[in-house]
Amino acid sequence: MRLLPEIVDSAAAIQDIRRNIHAHPELRFEENRTADLVADALSSWGIPIFRGLGKTGVVGRLDGDFGPGKMIGLRADMDALPLQEQNTFAHASRHAGKMHACGHDGHTAMLLGAAEYLSNHRDFAGTVIFIFQPAEEGGGGAREMIEDGLFDQFPCDAVFGLHNWPGLEAGHFGVTPGPMMASSNEFTITIKGKGGHAALPHNSADPVLTGAQVVSALQSIITRNKRPVDAAVLSVTQFHAGETSNVIPDSAMIGGTVRTFTNEVLDLIERRLTEVAHHVASGFDCQAEVEFMRNYPPTINHDTETQFAIQVMQELVGEQRVNTRIDPTMGAEDFAFMLQKKPGCYVFLGNGDGDHRSLGHGMGPCHLHNPSYDFNDELIPIGVSYWVKLAQRFLQKP
Ligand code: NI
Repeated sequence: MRLLPEIVDSAAAIQDIRRNIHAHPELRFEENRTADLVADALSSWGIPIFRGLGKTGVVGRLDGDFGPGKMIGLRADMDALPLQEQNTFAHASRHAGKMHACGHDGHTAMLLGAAEYLSNHRDFAGTVIFIFQPAEEGGGGAREMIEDGLFDQFPCDAVFGLHNWPGLEAGHFGVTPGPMMASSNEFTITIKGKGGHAALPHNSADPVLTGAQVVSALQSIITRNKRPVDAAVLSVTQFHAGETSNVIPDSAMIGGTVRTFTNEVLDLIERRLTEVAHHVASGFDCQAEVEFMRNYPPTINHDTETQFAIQVMQELVGEQRVNTRIDPTMGAEDFAFMLQKKPGCYVFLGNGDGDHRSLGHGMGPCHLHNPSYDFNDELIPIGVSYWVKLAQRFLQKP
């Protein structure tokens, strides 16, 4: 590993910031204390700040000493999850029902570490934009920042993001060009029939039986409509109908999620889902109402920026610690909106299997969104060094 010694020296201070944020988790668009902490830190290092993009977002702008040049955007997310933490160590959440269970505390602290270092070493040409975004967890904070003019105000030439990744060895990187994470979408199908006495079903149009056929038929979209080489998931996760054993209800509600790596496959699934629901329902004398909501688009890494990031990662931790063809995941990521607007690359940084956790961690595994999770502080000098080297290399003085 070729970490920057000054960053290794400051890792303990960054860890304190990380644990401070961990102890005070805030949910999407409520990241006021965290945003204040970020803004105060950036200001104390002489980095001009811009607030209010995406409600609680914070942007820092650092110009190099070697004149104008390219502009690079480095992004961290700040929000926590509505989850009861089971860890009891000293920096565990002090707010019931809220927890940094996805490591965004670590992401925020590492980007702050990079901001501090670069503020002391402005020997580059061009500009670093530090983007601290709210509401990654389902709130579309990146989209909100973009709609509030993020890239009009700060026209980045490229943007980069990272996420800690449990299960990947601590300090190893994983990335792939092209799709890295999936699009995330929700649907609800309401089956409208005709209720009646359960002993006289011939007088009814049964939405429960019809709904069951719809649930089965939906899987045919995955196995018979999309190309086998295209990855996609369709999961029915809700089926609500009826109140009691001797009444056929009037209606049934089916809900679920669809994940794809391309918009073409998503268009196909949305169209077929609507057709299958309508036609199966009408075959059973019922009607279907379909609602389909597209939440996050797929996170798609751009080739040039991915090759660039791979070079930086390999220099930093060595080729054997960088998986340049990691399997994409069906999870979704708000950074996708930024990659739709600007070329860039999103990488995973291995968080290990959980051995790093302090005494007093919960009994569960150290997976993301688990009540026993904790960000791995060993990653701090690696993540900070990655950000710094990425910016230095991107903004090399002529
Ligand atoms: Ni996350």
